[in-house]
Amino acid sequence: MKLRVTCDGKVLSGTCSMPGDKSVSHRAALLASIAEGTTDIYNYLWGADCLQTLQCLKRLGVVVEKRDGFIRIIGRGLDGFQEPEEILDAGNSGTTIRLLLGLLAGQDLFAVLTGDKSLCQRPMDRVINPLSMMGAQIQGRFGNRYAPLAIRGTCEVRPIEYTLPVPSAQVKSALLLAGLNASGTTTIIQPLPSRDHTERMLQVFGARLKVKGNVIQLAGKKTLKGQVIKVPGDISAAAFLIVAATLVRDSEIMIQSVGVNSTRAGILDVLKMMGADIQIQDMRLWNKEPVADLLVKSADLEGTVIEGELLPRVLDEIPVLAVAAAAARGETVIRDADELRVKETDRLQAIATELRKMKAVLKEKPDGLRIRGGQLQGARVNSWGDHRIAMALAVAGLIARGETIVEDASCLNISFPAFSDIFRKLGAGIDAQN
Ligand code: S3P
Repeated sequence: MKLRVTCDGKVLSGTCSMPGDKSVSHRAALLASIAEGTTDIYNYLWGADCLQTLQCLKRLGVVVEKRDGFIRIIGRGLDGFQEPEEILDAGNSGTTIRLLLGLLAGQDLFAVLTGDKSLCQRPMDRVINPLSMMGAQIQGRFGNRYAPLAIRGTCEVRPIEYTLPVPSAQVKSALLLAGLNASGTTTIIQPLPSRDHTERMLQVFGARLKVKGNVIQLAGKKTLKGQVIKVPGDISAAAFLIVAATLVRDSEIMIQSVGVNSTRAGILDVLKMMGADIQIQDMRLWNKEPVADLLVKSADLEGTVIEGELLPRVLDEIPVLAVAAAAARGETVIRDADELRVKETDRLQAIATELRKMKAVLKEKPDGLRIRGGQLQGARVNSWGDHRIAMALAVAGLIARGETIVEDASCLNISFPAFSDIFRKLGAGIDAQN
């Protein structure tokens, strides 16, 4: 599938809501699967990554039922998974493979996990090493660094104290999930805060978890209880609409019920620093996650610096922020973003290469980008098979002169299947074509 994008003086206006948050959806399904009793999850993200998590859980003997407007998961208790007969396939999803590995570290069974070509090239040693210290036996390709992976878990997990070498929520979450079956307290020290959905949701399910500053402590062997979970709208999906409505002159949109957890919502801070007009309205809590409605009006942007502690809070939004920077007055500098090189694709290289085809003026650095704002030109660009690159380029097309074609765009089904429908309903010229 490709996207054909034109600007033709159209504005974005109206109200919309977002699909469920990808990170929160994964966590809701995983915790439900090891809870006692039934969990109903509303607004679960019906995208490829989160469906892959459900398929893996089914292979571990978990009952997952699709109901009208929600999914029901019947938990098997802390160590009740069945040994899977089939390989657990995480598809394109880093969150699925890494968090599942953490969960399986605490189960007395053998399993093999794999993923697609992109996932099999992403580093797994960041979870394999600490999970091995906790007692799991894990083997992988190329010196135990890449999937496919084979794991033999244990229900006698050793509690550890571990300082995260990278500010990764996936690593933190994998260790917490393993720690649920530890006899004692697992302590994780995070030098920089990353998204804390796992910590919040563990508390919702009744785990004994404490957070003090940058130290997280989880007491093991505490039974989790099934819950009713409402998944907030995904701010990482909303990011494309927020940037589009900011950049397309005379636009005004309302995005309802978006998750605005501060460990995730750095995009709002960065865009405001750049001069965006975003009002955060009717803040409320859904299962300990802050949710709000966002009113976005178009505005002129100025270049900025994105670095340091901001990075983990805007990690997945860098491609679309690069588009915002390419349309802003002056220069934007993005530093400390080397983690983007080990995402679904090397996102720094991908966005730099493709935006250059649209006549953006930018330099790629080992850990970031330097972007000078100007007028983009429509072009034929490619997603590199990465959902966030595909959608960021479509937003770029909305402010470019002439037509833009985004090739290989079906990957947007990973996180935002309704992307072009929602944009079209708001009036934007984005069409999906086969
Ligand atoms: C995620 C954590 C981040 C993020 C990814 C989702 C999660 O990855 O980029 O899209 O759900 O925990 P890292 O933990 O590798 O930084």
